[in-house]
Amino acid sequence: MVAAAHPLAVDAGLDVLRRGGSAIDAAVAVQMMLGVVEPQSSGIGGGGFLLYYDAKAGGIGVYDGRETAPAGATPTMFQRDGKPLPFFDAVASGLSVGVPGAVALLEMAHREHGKLPWADLFTSSIKTARQGFAVSPRLAAWLATIKHFADDPEARAIYYRDDGSPRKIGDQVTNAALADTMERIASEGSRVLRDGPVAEAMVARVRGNVRPGTLALTDLAAYKPVKREPLCGPYKVWVVCGMPPPSSGGIAILQMLGLLEPFDLSKDKPNDLRAVHLIAEAGRLAFADRARYVDDPAFVPVPTKALVSPAYIAQRRKLISEDRSMGEQGRVPPGYPEHGTTHISIVDRDGNAVAFTTTIEAPFGAEMMVAGFILNNELTDFSTVAERDGLPVANRVEPGKRPRSSMSPTFVLDRDRRLVLTVGSAGGARIIGDTLQALIGMLDWNLSPQDALDLPRVINMNGPTELEDKGDLPEQADALRKLGHQVQVRRHEGGLTAIRRKGDGWEGGADPRRDGAAKGD
Ligand code: GLY
Repeated sequence: MVAAAHPLAVDAGLDVLRRGGSAIDAAVAVQMMLGVVEPQSSGIGGGGFLLYYDAKAGGIGVYDGRETAPAGATPTMFQRDGKPLPFFDAVASGLSVGVPGAVALLEMAHREHGKLPWADLFTSSIKTARQGFAVSPRLAAWLATIKHFADDPEARAIYYRDDGSPRKIGDQVTNAALADTMERIASEGSRVLRDGPVAEAMVARVRGNVRPGTLALTDLAAYKPVKREPLCGPYKVWVVCGMPPPSSGGIAILQMLGLLEPFDLSKDKPNDLRAVHLIAEAGRLAFADRARYVDDPAFVPVPTKALVSPAYIAQRRKLISEDRSMGEQGRVPPGYPEHGTTHISIVDRDGNAVAFTTTIEAPFGAEMMVAGFILNNELTDFSTVAERDGLPVANRVEPGKRPRSSMSPTFVLDRDRRLVLTVGSAGGARIIGDTLQALIGMLDWNLSPQDALDLPRVINMNGPTELEDKGDLPEQADALRKLGHQVQVRRHEGGLTAIRRKGDGWEGGADPRRDGAAKGD
């Protein structure tokens, strides 16, 4: 079974599984196809985190393909005259482009768990890029929204009509340059992005921008994906495993589940006031810790174990009241909002699974294209300030560092280490709340993956309580205000996919807020 944000990507993954490929083989094919048909969210120019479940051993492999800051990056590079650069100036700039890691990550995971030859995993994406595909509703919507993407000559030729207007739903798009680049990666591997003409073109594009970055060939040549230990903790009868730092996702999800467990949300229904209030309060505490402590562990020691320890969580839980909101917890250092991204869920015939969240950050990343793909703007995930009150802030920019992420690829296992479900989402910092609610929906409310993904969202990132403008959830706004919440009713972007064990088989779900699908044999 494959669940992803575009039906052609799902088909590409299924085709690989049907040819006898492993979950990792399928992940390569799905990622390559998403780069063609959902270019606004992920691709060759981005990075990601992948969790791999090995059904035979019950073990979990964690692959970190997060982008790194170039050697020339500085803690104040997103500031002008002591103030943060306006968000869109920072995004659409050479400053925001990190060294990409998605292809190197997949190559490493494929070397360890692939069954089919690497070169055979690119067939359908290369064909689709050459022969064309129909613009999806979400691609059309983002093309209409991110107007300055048209300033890039390569983007203009591919994604815009002859009169300069963005392509609409159903228009055909071909991307021969991307097909050529994928052909090279299929035969030469990730080194295509480390040296040679594609790497040189990336450096020239970043350095030639009106707000140039410092990306150098030496930065690209030095990139290495990292293998990490999964971050696991108990929730009721299950073991929940996620992504450790530099993502904040695994810590935040284990903290929130730990905070909520004694309240036993299975007593509530989705959208009940008590559940909505408690989820929001748990979010405040998790996001306060995220801002204070989570950073790239290669640069700053992150007290990961302490942050998810039952004793610490019990102490933090004392701040939660069922009758009153605790309000904002501490000051959050300024940063840019996080967007974009896509999540892939796969289970193969042997029960091995993949949870892969992959990103170029904002829709269309840094709004610059090279060799048919879009350059990421992942470095805007760093804090925009270097210090506050005379102290260095977590997640400040440093050369070679990985920016803090919210990406939360997650597995749930039973006590015998059998896989129960795989889930994750897109959407910047809101990924954490999305993934948490999908977990509560499936584990506490015993909903199918699709029903859990359909639920309207409540998100609190240590600020206002956000209620998705969907279903009857907004009706709780007044009652929440009476508990002391500041409430915003708003549209929610989403981007979840999930697969859950059902009897001897699996059932999947894809976020209805995107173009995705879940399909299996
Ligand atoms: N750029 C989204 C994230 O890493 O959280």
